[in-house]
Amino acid sequence: MDTKELKQAFEKTYGKQPQAIYFAPGRVNLIGEHTDYNGGYVFPCALSFGTYLLLAENNDNKLRFQSLNISEKVEVSINDIRPLPNRCWANYPLGCIAQYINRGFQLIKGYDMLFWGNVPAGAGLSSSAAIEVATACAFNDVFGAGYDKTELAKIGQLSEHEYAGVNCGIMDQFASAQGKKDHAIFLNCQTLEFQLVPVKLEGIKVVIANTHSPHKLDSGTYNDRVKESREALAKKDYTNPRARHFISEVKRTTDAVEALQKGDIATFGRLMNQSHVSLRDDYEVTGPELDAMAEAAWKIDGVIGSRMTGGGFGGCTVSLVKDEAIPTFIEQVGKEYKAKTGLTAEFYVAEIGDGVKRV
Ligand code: GLA
Repeated sequence: MDTKELKQAFEKTYGKQPQAIYFAPGRVNLIGEHTDYNGGYVFPCALSFGTYLLLAENNDNKLRFQSLNISEKVEVSINDIRPLPNRCWANYPLGCIAQYINRGFQLIKGYDMLFWGNVPAGAGLSSSAAIEVATACAFNDVFGAGYDKTELAKIGQLSEHEYAGVNCGIMDQFASAQGKKDHAIFLNCQTLEFQLVPVKLEGIKVVIANTHSPHKLDSGTYNDRVKESREALAKKDYTNPRARHFISEVKRTTDAVEALQKGDIATFGRLMNQSHVSLRDDYEVTGPELDAMAEAAWKIDGVIGSRMTGGGFGGCTVSLVKDEAIPTFIEQVGKEYKAKTGLTAEFYVAEIGDGVKRV
């Protein structure tokens, strides 16, 4: 949908024009997985697909959440902001608004909101972070708070912790907020210092493969990994496989970025493959579908590197593939994946886009 169609949809839903439109992207992480919540390095980039938020104030002191992707409509009084039951989708935006209230801003009006996103749902490409960052940005303007993009990312992360119950790191929201076209973000999750590194690669594309696996990383398993790795690191138990993954992944990430900056793409790819193996064996967040997808990719000539991306279990792999090998990649990986799992994979050639903005 383009913004004209979205405006029409808003008018149809609320019987008035939207006052503002925001866009925040999803993300794909190239390397540095399951390190953010322990203060490691990550290297994600924002995608060209994401979530739009259109909004207008109302005179009835209600926050109204509607989505063109989800049928459930939600209405909340501005004087009764708290987490919604049953893992309701509106917790993502509501939790961001709540962060402003916690910081002393006052809602004196209600708002009618309409969301629409084109991030494939459940693919681990951060559709929820996109909703959060779009909302955080919109209410930054509503309240005239003047927060920078890093602060918007923190607001999104806190919404995830307090309203969605996922103790996630900062990576997804940070990428959605600070992304830049044709760049990846080398982020130190301890200090939040970051560097934008160009990833416009001569003759090579970033290809995302969606497993469409029913096994999702649920908040329980994710929070377990957060706890297990934190405990092992606090005890300095570096033989513990969770801690070992963290240490080795941080090293791989810094080495990979260094290699990329030197133009040594082959080393970057090797480190991506090693990252997958570590996530499979030490961190145990891959599962048969992601393993089948990565293993199929590793066999193809012209694949520089391939690994799972995001939280894991289901979701997507990310691969660097030479232009001329992309058709074979899609055909062969799709075929082998189907034969091994019975599932149909879907492929996207990633376009690396900008972070959140008012449209
Ligand atoms: C999810 C979380 C992120 C990060 C990744 C794994 O996407 O939201 O904070 O931990 O998993 O790298």
